[in-house]
Amino acid sequence: MKALVTGCAGFIGNHLTERLLKEGFEVIGIDCFTDYYSREIKEANISNALNHKNFEFIEEDILSLDDFPDVDYVFHEAAQAGVRKSWGENFEVYTINNVLATQKLLEFYKLKRIKKFVFASSSSVYGDAELPMREDRLLKPVSPYGVTKLAAENLCYLYWKNYGVPTVSLRYFTVYGPRQRPDMAIHRFVKAILNDEEITVYGDGTQTRDFTFFDDVTEANILAANSEIEGGVFNVGGGSRISVNELINEIEKIVGNKARVKYVEKQKGDVKNTWADVSKAEAILNWKPKIKIEEGLKRFVEWIKLECEKNKRG
Ligand SMILES: NC(=O)c1ccc[n+]([C@@H]2O[C@H](COP(=O)([O-])OP(=O)(O)OC[C@H]3O[C@@H](n4cnc5c(N)ncnc54)[C@H](O)[C@@H]3O)[C@@H](O)[C@H]2O)c1
Repeated sequence: MKALVTGCAGFIGNHLTERLLKEGFEVIGIDCFTDYYSREIKEANISNALNHKNFEFIEEDILSLDDFPDVDYVFHEAAQAGVRKSWGENFEVYTINNVLATQKLLEFYKLKRIKKFVFASSSSVYGDAELPMREDRLLKPVSPYGVTKLAAENLCYLYWKNYGVPTVSLRYFTVYGPRQRPDMAIHRFVKAILNDEEITVYGDGTQTRDFTFFDDVTEANILAANSEIEGGVFNVGGGSRISVNELINEIEKIVGNKARVKYVEKQKGDVKNTWADVSKAEAILNWKPKIKIEEGLKRFVEWIKLECEKNKRG
């Protein structure tokens, strides 16, 4: 079996690549090392895969390619991530990497016989929807990023409806774990608390998030790829909904240090709460999150400690 993973050098894309290689897939990865965060981090992310005989890496921008590999499965993880930066003139890069790149892939694969096209969507498509967030709720994103992810999700649906491209969209809820993007809260908080540095919280910290460990996300991708479902959408949430203040307390307990927190104004585009109803994924994909936040955080802290030691050694 052959799979294409776009965004293979990013946080989720490279974990998925490694999982697919473990499962015996031949994997072709595409990534163009966008400057959202450092290239060095992404190169380290894919270093394991690069040593694998069944991995081929294409360092290209999706939009600069006219031809994509012949594969059985496409896992489309590449995107311009991050809610807060998606305003103003940055919106252009979000439109290019999230909407146009998705359309380009769908245009190409509409003519091929692939088994599944799994798209990495986001809880951001819900905006401040009623809780728990269910797939059939009205979608009103409150960030430009959310708008681009919803547009891409809609493209996946219409290429299925019109051309029969077997798409499935998975709405990820705040994914964390080793190699998490450096701009994300858990990554920033753990690093700062370990180093006794101040952390910045946007808003009063009572906002809640449904945190999802990356292993559960890669599992959902595999199950979606193997399912009979086409044109569907599923929530992929970790079942660990806690407030940002509670998250900080948990990290303090694990690290054994007190956090120094600076509260600043809530950022535009941030939703108040997220909470996934995952009963649809459970019923249809037989997927359920397994890793609770306490366990996931412990694994994250262990990983970041090792990273800090590596960096000290140079
Ligand atoms: N991390 C989360 O909590 C989260 C939550 C919801 C949805 N998602 C979605 O999951 C996917 C992966 O997120 P992540 O956190 O791993 O992000 P990431 O930024 O770590 O990875 C994305 C990768 O895509 C690459 N990329 C972007 N545009 C490209 C293009 N045009 N051509 C080739 N490569 C390109 C980037 O260089 C990067 O390596 C994204 O689609 C994101 O929107 C993530």
